[in-house]
Amino acid sequence: MSAGHVRLAQKWHRGREFLGCEHAILGGAMSWVSERNLVSAISNAGGFGVIACGAMNPELLDTEIRETRARTDKPFGVNLITMHPQLSELIDVCAKHEVGHIVLAGGLPPGGAIERIKATGARLIAFAPALSLAKKLMRSGADAIVIEGMEAGGHIGPVSTSVLAQEILPYICRDIPVFVAGGIGRGEAIAAFLEMGAAGVQLGTKFVCATESIAHANFKRAFIRASARDAVPSVQLDARLPVIPVRALKNKETERFTAKQREIAEHLDGKKLEMAEAQLQIEHYWAGALRRAVVDGDVETGSVMAGQSVGMVTREEPTADIIRELVDEAAAALARRG
Ligand SMILES: Cc1cc2nc3c(=O)[nH]c(=O)nc-3n(C[C@H](O)[C@H](O)[C@H](O)COP(=O)(O)O)c2cc1C
Repeated sequence: MSAGHVRLAQKWHRGREFLGCEHAILGGAMSWVSERNLVSAISNAGGFGVIACGAMNPELLDTEIRETRARTDKPFGVNLITMHPQLSELIDVCAKHEVGHIVLAGGLPPGGAIERIKATGARLIAFAPALSLAKKLMRSGADAIVIEGMEAGGHIGPVSTSVLAQEILPYICRDIPVFVAGGIGRGEAIAAFLEMGAAGVQLGTKFVCATESIAHANFKRAFIRASARDAVPSVQLDARLPVIPVRALKNKETERFTAKQREIAEHLDGKKLEMAEAQLQIEHYWAGALRRAVVDGDVETGSVMAGQSVGMVTREEPTADIIRELVDEAAAALARRG
């Protein structure tokens, strides 16, 4: 082991301990992409795979966890979306399988969800888009925090990874493990965040073109062709309908989303829809649009969610090679710093 690798092992020791894996790299859950094959490949390569439950019902999640376990004896987690109408049942499925880590995404958890997760014995990882929320989540029982900047693929907040890291890490990284996500494509960036106090990192975009990823060949091809500037956030059409922006590759889907927003805004105006239901409809829209692109390969009218690090995805390659390269780059960067 080189001096750089030894330093890296020390730097992300806390993250490795927390996750129970060799490298403190979470494979960020990606709906339709982070299923048994990619998740087990990430965990088998020493990272930490996370199943994206997305819109799955409890039976589907049950099968996915079982099938992932059949492919790896290493730890992996499950990502649940807070606004899923069957959140409690999904937590029960995780409990049944003694899932060690549950990642809660999609806004502040509804009452009782944190307690229910903690009662299963699982460690809870939560997203914090601001320091005050990170502290609130810590007080409520989160065991680790993910801070994700707007460079990321999928649903995004308004603040960049570099600013979030500066605003949050110095104040809480001694109290709780923090994983940094959004825009990470090389190990040098991993080394930098570890030096700022992160316990580890979370990457999504970089794993989409892994050989083990079941994403359609068209989806992978679109990633390989794209550069950072092609991954753009969706635009909010109507101030009355607050939609969380989604970062995806530019294509015809943008027009469809505009039409969908217009339709929902009209229903809100006509009082045919409550705001919570409107937002759920938007989420269903995204789940369907992403499925069309990932599963069916319709990269024209489907949503090709991708982060700005897409420009650093240049070929299809085995998950183990992706992780090895990131680790070597991070180790070399730390070694250079002396
Ligand atoms: C195609 C795609 C789908 C995603 N789906 C989800 C999801 O279902 N739940 C979630 O919490 N995050 C989701 N994300 C975000 C990732 O988990 C991860 O945090 C993000 O990709 C990290 O930023 P990066 O893309 O710059 O590496 C998705 C990202 C992508 C690219």
